[in-house]
Amino acid sequence: MLFNLFKKTKEDQVRTNNYLTLRIRETVVETPDTITVYFDQPEPFLDYKAGQFLTVILEIDGKEERRSYSLCTSPYVDPFPAITVKRLKEGLVSNYINDRFRPGKTISVMKPMGNFITDYHSKNKRHYGMIAGGSGITPIMGIIKSVLVNEPESKVSLLYCSRTEDLIIFGKALENLREKYAGRLEIIHNLSQPKGDWKGLKGRLDSKKIEAFVNVKFIGPEWDNRFFLCGPQGIMDLARETLLAAGYEKERLYSESFYLEPSGNEIPEDTNGQVVRSVTIILDGQEHIVEVIPGKTILEAGLAEDLDMPYSCQSGLCTACRGKLLSGEVKMNEDAGLSENEIKEGYILCCSARPTGPNIRINIE
Ligand SMILES: Cc1cc2nc3c(=O)[nH]c(=O)nc-3n(C[C@H](O)[C@H](O)[C@H](O)COP(=O)(O)OP(=O)(O)OC[C@H]3O[C@@H](n4cnc5c(N)ncnc54)[C@H](O)[C@@H]3O)c2cc1C
Ligand code: FES
Repeated sequence: MLFNLFKKTKEDQVRTNNYLTLRIRETVVETPDTITVYFDQPEPFLDYKAGQFLTVILEIDGKEERRSYSLCTSPYVDPFPAITVKRLKEGLVSNYINDRFRPGKTISVMKPMGNFITDYHSKNKRHYGMIAGGSGITPIMGIIKSVLVNEPESKVSLLYCSRTEDLIIFGKALENLREKYAGRLEIIHNLSQPKGDWKGLKGRLDSKKIEAFVNVKFIGPEWDNRFFLCGPQGIMDLARETLLAAGYEKERLYSESFYLEPSGNEIPEDTNGQVVRSVTIILDGQEHIVEVIPGKTILEAGLAEDLDMPYSCQSGLCTACRGKLLSGEVKMNEDAGLSENEIKEGYILCCSARPTGPNIRINIE
């Protein structure tokens, strides 16, 4: 595939409103393996909601790479938008960003997206429960700041899991918020492997700790409770199960996955008997017909035709590749990023959808 973004074709001109160029203003080392990258405000200012993410598009070793990074800032509080990136062992982009991002460098991004968001109102009286692990604190930080500044009657309790004391991201910034909003922000750290004489929660996060966090703190029917979960899959699954068992409706639980562990049980798709399907993709109002060969996703087929389809994670999590199925049938092997309502309304994720019948038409807004 050619680098759609860097190619100056007529189609790219049509889609430039999906992309932005951001200039790095400052980088701040948060922990030994994590940095925050602040951007200058573009013109007009970046339009985003706390909890959304940017898709960073880089060319590394001659290949286009895209990754999603949540904004850690609040549009209500922070003058400059920022992302926070944790190095992954042998991770291509996370290490590139930590090693190579410097003030003055410009990068291409896709405009902010994502549904890990909430509404705010000065009259809301909510108790927000935040359960975060590692870099999962990033979108939650932006939401915490937005709640505290917009909803004087709401309060926030954060249960934040890190490995060691020095790997706590935003440790000082969280303490400053706790002081500034005394009585409205409670922070409980859990360290799985504390190095020093740690007085707080320690060891693996288990359902007892989550039950204690939830059952003891979240009492009182007058509070409109909401829970935001972001972190390693194990923590999010445990938190979700515990909250559901404690009687909270699933509508009150919001979660953001950064990564899905491969289950190891994936069965290679049997493509015998399948046929090449013509799929109509409507991209910004323009119709394109692509041939999808058996075993390929609709995104793969579109990119092979040099269609500038939006995408990021390519694993069914981020929803950057979301489209609406207007006719025909597809099968998705991963739809974790879509809500039940989106699925009912006919939205699909092109990165995981394969045709299973004729007359497929998909609109990508
Ligand atoms: C909606 C969304 C928001 C995100 N926000 C953030 C954020 O705010 N901060 C942040 O640091 N990251 C965030 N991520 C994760 C990020 O997009 C990348 O997946 C991550 O930086 C790894 O990219 P890489 O190129 O370094 O690793 P790769 O080179 O892609 O992968 C290296 C190895 O690590 C595994 N792997 C990939 N991603 C993960 C992961 N997240 N956890 C565990 N193992 C993984 C791969 O299977 C591979 O074996 C987000 C992801 C999504 C979908
Ligand atoms: S590209 Fe992320 S869900 Fe499809």
